[in-house]
Amino acid sequence: MNLIKKKQKYRLKFHLMPPKGWMNDPNGLCFYKGLYHVFFQYAPSGPCAYERYWGHYTSSDMLNWKYEGIAVKSDCPWDANGAFSGCGFTDDGVMELFYTGNVEEEGEYDYIHAGRGSNVIYLQSEDGFCFGDKKLLLTNKDYPSDYTCHVRDPKVWKEGDFYHMVLGGRKNSDRGAILHYLSRNKIEWVLKEEISSTDDFGFMWECPDVFELDGKTVLMCCPQGVKRGEYQFQNPHQAGYWMLPKDTALVRDLTQDKIREINLEAASFVELDKGFDFYAPQTFMVPDGRRILYGWGGVSEMDREYNNAPIIEEGWQHSLTVPRELHIEKGLLKQWPVKELEALRYDEEVLENGTVKLSTDAFDLEASVTGEAVSIQLGEDVLLDWNEGIFTLRFLNESGCGRKIRKAEIEKPHHLRVLKDVSMLEIYINGGEYVFTTRYFPEDTAYTRLTLQGCGKTTLWKMKAMEVDLSNGEQ
Ligand code: FRU
Repeated sequence: MNLIKKKQKYRLKFHLMPPKGWMNDPNGLCFYKGLYHVFFQYAPSGPCAYERYWGHYTSSDMLNWKYEGIAVKSDCPWDANGAFSGCGFTDDGVMELFYTGNVEEEGEYDYIHAGRGSNVIYLQSEDGFCFGDKKLLLTNKDYPSDYTCHVRDPKVWKEGDFYHMVLGGRKNSDRGAILHYLSRNKIEWVLKEEISSTDDFGFMWECPDVFELDGKTVLMCCPQGVKRGEYQFQNPHQAGYWMLPKDTALVRDLTQDKIREINLEAASFVELDKGFDFYAPQTFMVPDGRRILYGWGGVSEMDREYNNAPIIEEGWQHSLTVPRELHIEKGLLKQWPVKELEALRYDEEVLENGTVKLSTDAFDLEASVTGEAVSIQLGEDVLLDWNEGIFTLRFLNESGCGRKIRKAEIEKPHHLRVLKDVSMLEIYINGGEYVFTTRYFPEDTAYTRLTLQGCGKTTLWKMKAMEVDLSNGEQ
């Protein structure tokens, strides 16, 4: 059965995208019984549709994917207006999902301070495909009284004798914060800690994630409403992390009654991606010990001055990023496309500085940097350039649909990697110390003209498409 009815010029080859309609956050990421499970926020009814379900992809190798249909529907009173984001947990030998059931009551409400239910809901599956009954774990009554109705996106992990859960929230004072709960059985949860910032750092923090990596504790989240800067926080909403100092490691003691308050410095928050299209990342651990991140290759519609008109026309919108392996080196978190993707490379070519016309719409390019300045230009569309300490991603024409410029202060780039996937670019600088993710819509997708300046050894591989079986897709 072919789901793709129209010709889709901008369809992606090695990024997971919605079978049709709308996609946002990666959800429930886990490896279970031999398969990677990637769930995602899904609205199959249209590229701008508002229903929120969990779509479901599986793969044994991150290259051959199967769409498994809708795993979580919003079909009960606790999630009547959306099966919002959440996580997967497999440490105890079954697949367990925790997610937010969004409820919007009918009436004259602002849906911030009243009229919205944010429920933590739990589901279990033996096989990873069929889920048992939904169980309600927490409702708004269980959150502190100084919180608005916006509390969501559970992430659960196990450490020592306890299960931990973090939820993102918006306080009545319009401060973003994270609630940290502890449990002995994953069903009853006790609030033990609130993590926020002393500084004014956004009114809502979404999609928290906490994990140990290379001996450090990393706390990721998505603060909304942070003041825009020239070199950072250029998007409507942010996604980044704090490396938690040793003495502020998250509470691990159920006996204390008091809720501990941790305030992190806004200045130590590091953005994960400097591009136009990145938000709501989530990580998971795979059996060989790698910590892998998927981001939403998109941002919310709010306050955004760019759009995706050409793909909305094709009946879909957004995708995930490629899976990125995480590491900490010299105190910085680095992101790097998982090595599995290298199996899609073919037709290796060594490039010189100058212009070359490539007969492909998808490639992976790695370049060392020798010059005092470096630039890579794609057609007449996009210029990546570094000069005097500033790296710039600049749209030269309308192929960004309103996207114009994103910048980062980078002392010296020594290595660049550019993944180009038809209408998606991921740019990794210095082994993933900086990343720029952006969607773009070149007029001509069959060819890419590349102009390189200041590059040292440069290798380009054309990229094959992943296998994605969509036969279980909604009609
Ligand atoms: C982030 C987010 C989450 C929420 C989900 C709803 O993009 O707003 O906080 O659970 O999307 O689709």
